[in-house]
Amino acid sequence: MNSLKEYIAQHKERFLNELIELLKIPSVSADPAFMQDVLNTAEAIKVALLEGGCDTVEIHETDGYPIVYGEKIIDSNLPTVLVYGHYDVQPSDPIELWDSPPYEPVIKKTALHPEGAIFARGACDDKGQLYMHVKALEYMVQTNQLPCNVKFMIEGEEEIGSNNLAIYVANNKEKLANDIILISDTGMIANDVPSITTGLRGLSYVEVEVTGPNRDLHSGLYGGAVANPINVLTKMIASLHDENNHITILGFYDKVENLSQEERAELAKAPFSLENYKDALKIGAVYGESGYTTNERNSIRPTLDVNGIWGGYIGEGAKTVIASQAFAKISMRLVPNQDWQEITTLFKTHFESIAPKGVTVKVTPHHGGQGYVTPIDTIGYQAASKAYETTFGKKPIPQRSGGSIPIVALFEKELQSKTILMGFGLDSDAIHSPNEHFGIWNYLKGIETIPYFYKYFTEMSS
Ligand code: BES
Ligand code: MN
Ligand code: MN
Repeated sequence: MNSLKEYIAQHKERFLNELIELLKIPSVSADPAFMQDVLNTAEAIKVALLEGGCDTVEIHETDGYPIVYGEKIIDSNLPTVLVYGHYDVQPSDPIELWDSPPYEPVIKKTALHPEGAIFARGACDDKGQLYMHVKALEYMVQTNQLPCNVKFMIEGEEEIGSNNLAIYVANNKEKLANDIILISDTGMIANDVPSITTGLRGLSYVEVEVTGPNRDLHSGLYGGAVANPINVLTKMIASLHDENNHITILGFYDKVENLSQEERAELAKAPFSLENYKDALKIGAVYGESGYTTNERNSIRPTLDVNGIWGGYIGEGAKTVIASQAFAKISMRLVPNQDWQEITTLFKTHFESIAPKGVTVKVTPHHGGQGYVTPIDTIGYQAASKAYETTFGKKPIPQRSGGSIPIVALFEKELQSKTILMGFGLDSDAIHSPNEHFGIWNYLKGIETIPYFYKYFTEMSS
């Protein structure tokens, strides 16, 4: 593409500074305390899309946070790319584990990012990655090289389940009509091992509550004679996996897609070092379901994990008490064909059935979504592959990810379009964790690669 590298080199500082400004706004969708900041971020996205070259940008109100929609339609006979991203971020706590404040972005070098990385909440997930698309559009528009139509749909509730986006999509099929959906909200294997995400896991997220006696009790006077909700809850949770780390919920695996030996061998070709993996996490050994490799355990296999657990006394010193209640938040990552609502029901039935006498159990479903796999023999995948080949100098590896973007399956159902997941983050970028960061090299590489996707996709479509 004409002068792409020069354009990026020339505008690099501004590209970085604009992203840094966006990262200063704490758009935490989960916490109502940040409501005004989330709304301000939607406004900032609107401005960015207009400056990036969209002809019209609208802010659509929902029952939750607004959806920013922008478009540049150059010719209705040309293909249309729909870009999706999210401007909301995860909460930043535990704040004390950050080396620098989460909303005061700083650039620091790391072993994997020798050219520097921006440290801030949302740097990689997803403000940095969505902003690559805004800057790629700017380049194409400024240099008169936009080859097709483009629509942007940027939401503010991805991290809390995208419920309002689902309604918006169902009600705006015409407006959102497209030939391909393009998302940068995933990762790649390494900077010298480009990969394209071809699968996402589904999700079922539930909260459980175990109630015993009607009040907290003296653990000497009552201990041993009544069910302790915390003892019971931890025992129930422990029983959800057997000695092979298989999940024990009846029917849980019924619909799990079993990959053939050939397919597994194909996936195993992706470079992976168990030693590096363990070293990066400072763990002596990996852990998981028998019969599967680490890469399989975190992509093609379903899981059940406690995300949080609380109850009883956790203050200073010791308090001898049996709590009345105990709680946990549990996520199940699902694979294609497992229906998240069905799994939620299976969990609820199972969890209630294993409760001993003397306690009551309540299961409250939170949110969830379907998994997704995309075929690679499509124009969309081929165009993306060729784009990476052009800018990375090697063919990207198709890779199934363990993360979830539930709206992707819904896009396919409602809009009948495939999604291409061009993620430029690394697993080590600490998304959702303290010290989230995004490599400057990755940011600029994304801006460089995206225009080629537009070019090849348009060429291959005609
Ligand atoms: N961008 C992530 C998902 C992701 C990250 C997929 C890396 C693949 C690789 C997204 O913002 C996210 O965090 N999704 C949530 C699910 C959502 C319903 C809260 C997740 O995966 O936990
Ligand atoms: Mn994300
Ligand atoms: Mn996320």
